[in-house]
Amino acid sequence: MSRIVVVSNRVPVPQGNAGQAGGLAVALLGLMQRRGGLWFGWSGAVTEAGGPPGITHRGGVGYATIDLTEAEHRGYYTGYSNGVLWPMLHSLPHLMTFRRQDLDIYRKVNRRFADNLVPLLRRDDRIWVHDYHLLALPGALRQRGVLGATGFYLHVPFPAPDAAAVAPGIRSLVQDVLQADLLGFQTATDRDNFAATAVGFAGAVRTADGVVELGGRPIRLGVFPAEIAAPEFAATAAAQAAAEPSRLLARSLNGRPLLLGVDRLDPTKGLPERLEALRRVVARRAPRSLTMLQIAAPSREDVAAYRLLRQEIDAAAGAINSEFGEPDWTPLRLLARPQNRDTVAGFMRLARVGVVTPIRDGMNLVAKEYIAAQDPADPGVLVLSRFAGAAAQLASALLVNPHDAEGMAEAICAALDMSAEERRARWRECWAAIAGASPEGWGLEFLRALSPGDLDRLPAM
Ligand code: G6P
Repeated sequence: MSRIVVVSNRVPVPQGNAGQAGGLAVALLGLMQRRGGLWFGWSGAVTEAGGPPGITHRGGVGYATIDLTEAEHRGYYTGYSNGVLWPMLHSLPHLMTFRRQDLDIYRKVNRRFADNLVPLLRRDDRIWVHDYHLLALPGALRQRGVLGATGFYLHVPFPAPDAAAVAPGIRSLVQDVLQADLLGFQTATDRDNFAATAVGFAGAVRTADGVVELGGRPIRLGVFPAEIAAPEFAATAAAQAAAEPSRLLARSLNGRPLLLGVDRLDPTKGLPERLEALRRVVARRAPRSLTMLQIAAPSREDVAAYRLLRQEIDAAAGAINSEFGEPDWTPLRLLARPQNRDTVAGFMRLARVGVVTPIRDGMNLVAKEYIAAQDPADPGVLVLSRFAGAAAQLASALLVNPHDAEGMAEAICAALDMSAEERRARWRECWAAIAGASPEGWGLEFLRALSPGDLDRLPAM
């Protein structure tokens, strides 16, 4: 049986006390544990060592990681991945800061990944490359004679061709990623935008539905929306709602409805726009009539736009509280610290309104988690940006345009005033969209599409 080789920028090496791995990482590990696997990527360390990968084995899975040098980290991760590709892919070109040497280093690090990975590969490995940090890797692997099935999955959106073209270097990176056999996307829009870019800018030809050809080689393009383990998350939320952190939070609300936002502190998440909507909600409702908790975990602090955003939302939060607060109440609690995932599940169950309003987002699993966390008898309402991938599946949420502060404020007020009957009806439809899916199902579906027939002998879950 062929091995699964996963390649991603970050590698979730189990480390006991380190932060919890995300749901998708856990799903991939489950699959790899049952058929043997190798996970390759950056160790997370920045050193000048530059040596071969360190390899550890845990629970049937090998983890091979390399350190990045300071210059590699700056050029590949901070510079080109997060300073150019991330803003371009999320249609925020004004946040791009391009330096030619960053693109060169990005390519060099992708080649270094390939150089270090190839000696570890077996002939019939199924290679699955993840995300925008590694667009050049499928090309680098082909160049080094790797002929086995290679898949690539983009966790983030892909914009329309003209918006993609603003990133210097994108043409050849699209050609490189087209060296994979299967490309996976979160939504049909992302897939279609990529196909149009491949055809319009990278010399590919569309040959059939979901297939393009480059240099006579067919490449399949598929849609594989990322999923959560909804029943498990629901159970965690129900248990956590009775635990100490949720009890303390509930007590502090004094019966007021809770609005909740949970995000990385990232320009794509629409936090200033969300706080402006909150300001309008607070202005039009009675003092002390609601509380918003916004969790914004700091992220990528080496990138200037992220540091500026922190200052911006600190100022906006202070302004809301100083304008509308009372001696015994503030409308907004802003926590710029990561919180434990289980604890947050309990907070989600308490929240009458989940506010998930990114400017643009690949999927946004928080939206799905908020639905899963609700009490079916008395569920809260999800206010969701129509520009999150999740909106394609959660059409019964209150869909909003994050650029329209007034529209968002109206939706939040409608959520606060919504009858229990309507809340239950909307929740049931959202739940139906996510309850039967799972991260394992997502992973299996991609791997089955990558090498049909190959996974049929996989032991049952
Ligand atoms: C997004 C990306 C991931 C990335 C994560 C955290 O979800 O799609 O590839 O790992 O953000 O960002 P970081 O820069 O800390 O890895």
